[in-house]
Amino acid sequence: MCGIVGYYGPKNPKEVIMTGLKALEYRGYDSAGVAILDKGVFKRVRAEGKLSNLSEKLTAEDFNGHLGIGHTRWATHGKPSERNAHPHTVGDVSLVHNGIIENYMELREELIKDGAVIESDTDSELVAHLLNRQLKKTPDLLPAVLAILPRLVGAYAIVCVNVKQPETMVAFKNGPPLILGVGSDAMYIASDVQAIVSYTKNVVYLEDGEVVEVKGTGYKVFSAKGKPTDKPVVEINWTADVASKGGFPHFMVKEIFEQPRAVAQAIQPHINLASTTVEMFELGLDQKALSEIERIFIVACGSSYYTGLVGEYMIERLARVPVECDIASEFRYRHPVLPKNSLFISISQSGETADTLAAVRLAKAAGVKVLSICNVRRSSIDREADGHLYMNAGTEVGVASTKAFSATLSLLNLFSIAMAKAKGKLTLAEEQDYVRQIQAAPAQIETVLNLDKWFKEGADQLKNFRGFLYLGRGVHYPIAMEGALKLKELAYMHAEGYAAGEMKHGPLALIDDDMAVVMLAPHDELFEKSISNMEEAKARGGQILSISTGHNKRLEEISNFYLALPEAGWFTMPLLEVVPVQLLAYHVAVSLGHDVDQPRNLAKSVTVE
Ligand code: G6P
Repeated sequence: MCGIVGYYGPKNPKEVIMTGLKALEYRGYDSAGVAILDKGVFKRVRAEGKLSNLSEKLTAEDFNGHLGIGHTRWATHGKPSERNAHPHTVGDVSLVHNGIIENYMELREELIKDGAVIESDTDSELVAHLLNRQLKKTPDLLPAVLAILPRLVGAYAIVCVNVKQPETMVAFKNGPPLILGVGSDAMYIASDVQAIVSYTKNVVYLEDGEVVEVKGTGYKVFSAKGKPTDKPVVEINWTADVASKGGFPHFMVKEIFEQPRAVAQAIQPHINLASTTVEMFELGLDQKALSEIERIFIVACGSSYYTGLVGEYMIERLARVPVECDIASEFRYRHPVLPKNSLFISISQSGETADTLAAVRLAKAAGVKVLSICNVRRSSIDREADGHLYMNAGTEVGVASTKAFSATLSLLNLFSIAMAKAKGKLTLAEEQDYVRQIQAAPAQIETVLNLDKWFKEGADQLKNFRGFLYLGRGVHYPIAMEGALKLKELAYMHAEGYAAGEMKHGPLALIDDDMAVVMLAPHDELFEKSISNMEEAKARGGQILSISTGHNKRLEEISNFYLALPEAGWFTMPLLEVVPVQLLAYHVAVSLGHDVDQPRNLAKSVTVE
C-alpha cells in the first residue's frame, strides 16, 4: 500500500515528486524517501515517519537533475525505519516498490550466497540486487527488468532507474496500481492519478504484466515477454483535488460533515424525480438479466464489508433474492460455489483493495457478472467490472472511511429497490415510498450531525471506559460492528460489535462498571427485544449509551446517556445511526491525542494481501 512516483522532465524533480507523494500519503505514512539524479549520482534522502519529516530534511537539499523517484511507505517486510525506507539503491540501480515479493526468503538466500550485502530487512531491496546483478550482463535497464521478471513472485508496482541511463525510467506491475502520465515535456509514473494530475491530464493505465520504458519524453509499453503493446492514452478531466480541511481540524470530521452531500450526490443519478422511481442504467445487466438473478454475492473489506452486510439485509428483505456477504480475504480461499445466474457485487472506496480485486477476478473467471460499487473512477476494480455504481463522494482523505460508507449505503438502498422491481416484488407506491425515504436522508443526516457537540463534550468521560461493546439487531448490527471498528482504528481502544441477541452467549461476561455498551435501538419491530438486551447489560453494571429515536421512558431510565435520532424506517436508519458512532470514535481519539486522519499502522488503500 505504499505510494510511488517517478519523474523525468525540466521541472525541479524535488517539487514534482513531493507533490506526488503528498497526494499518495494516504497509501502509507511510516517513512518516505526520494532519489534524484544530481550531477551524475542518485542523491538519496530518506526519513522515518510522516512525509513532513522528509520534507523538513529536504528543505536544505538542492538538486540540479531532471530525473527522480520517490516513495511513501506502509511497512510489510521490515519495521518502519530510515534503513528500510525506499528508494533502495544497489550499485547503479535505485528503485521504489509497492507490494510484497512473496518468494523473498528464497531470493534473499540466493543473493547472499552470491555475495550480496543486504542492508535492509525489506523484500524490495532484493529486487534492486537482482537488477544490479542483471545489469552486469545486460547493461540496459529494460532488458534487465525483462530478465528478472520471471523471478518475482507476488505483488509489485516498481519504478527503477539506473545511474548510467540519466533519461530512463522503467516501471512494471503485477497487482498494485500504476499509471504513466504523459506531459508535453515531461513523463510521470505514479500509483494513482491524483499524484500527477496537476501536471498532466494524459494518462496510460498499466495492466498487470506490463512494463513501460520511459526514455526522455518518449515511452514504450511492453508485455512481460518484451512484446511491444499499444496502449491508449486516456484524457482525464479531473482537477487536482486540492485536499483542504475547509476550516475543520481534521479531514475525518470534515468528511463526516460532508455526508449529507455525499449521499445526495450518490443517489442523484439514479432517481427519476418526475416519477419518484429508481433508474439504474450502468448495472451491466438489462432488466431481463436482472430479473433472472438468483443469488447475489457481496464481497468487500473493512468498513466496505459492513456496508455489504447492510446491503444483504436490504436486498433479501426487499427483493427476496438470497445474498451472501463475504470478507474478500476469506472469499476466494473458501472455494466458493458461484452458481449460474449469480451477480457479484464488489464494494471498494478505492477500487484498489488487493483482496477485493482478487475476488472480482475469481468471480469473472467463473463467468459471473461483476457490479462494482466504488468511489475512484477507473480504479483497478472499476476497470474490470461489467457494471458500475459510483459513490460520487469526492476524495476521501481520512484513513477511516466515513462519507464513502454513507454513499455506499445509499447506493445499496437504491440497488435493493431496483432488484426488487426487477423481481416484481414492489408496487409503484411502495417503490415511491422507499425513494422518498432515501431522498429525505441527507437532511436527516444533517440533523444528526448536531450531536457533534455532545460527543465533543462527552469524549473526556467516554475515553475512560476500559472497553466498548456496540450492540444492534437486524440492520443495526453491521453498524454496531462499524462503530466498534471505528473506535479500534482511531482510539486504539478495545471494542466489539455484537448482535444484541448473542450477548448471553459470552459477551455478557465482559460487562462491569468499566464497560460502555453502545446500543443501537431505534423504534422498529426489534425495539422491545433490544430493550430486554439492555436490561440484561444494565443488571450487570454496564454503562449504557442508547442511540434510538423519539422517546421511551423505560429506555431513558436504563440508559446512562440517551441520544435521539430523527424518525426513520429500517431502510435508511443505518445512514443515520452510523453518524453518532463515527463522531464517538473521532472525538474520543482526538481527546486521547491521536492522529485521526492517519491512525497508526493503517493505510487507506490496501493493495497487498
Ligand atoms: C482500509 C481502510 C478502510 C477501508 C478498507 C477497505 O482498511 O483503512 O477504511 O474500509 O481499507 O477499503 P476499500 O477502498 O476497498 O473500500
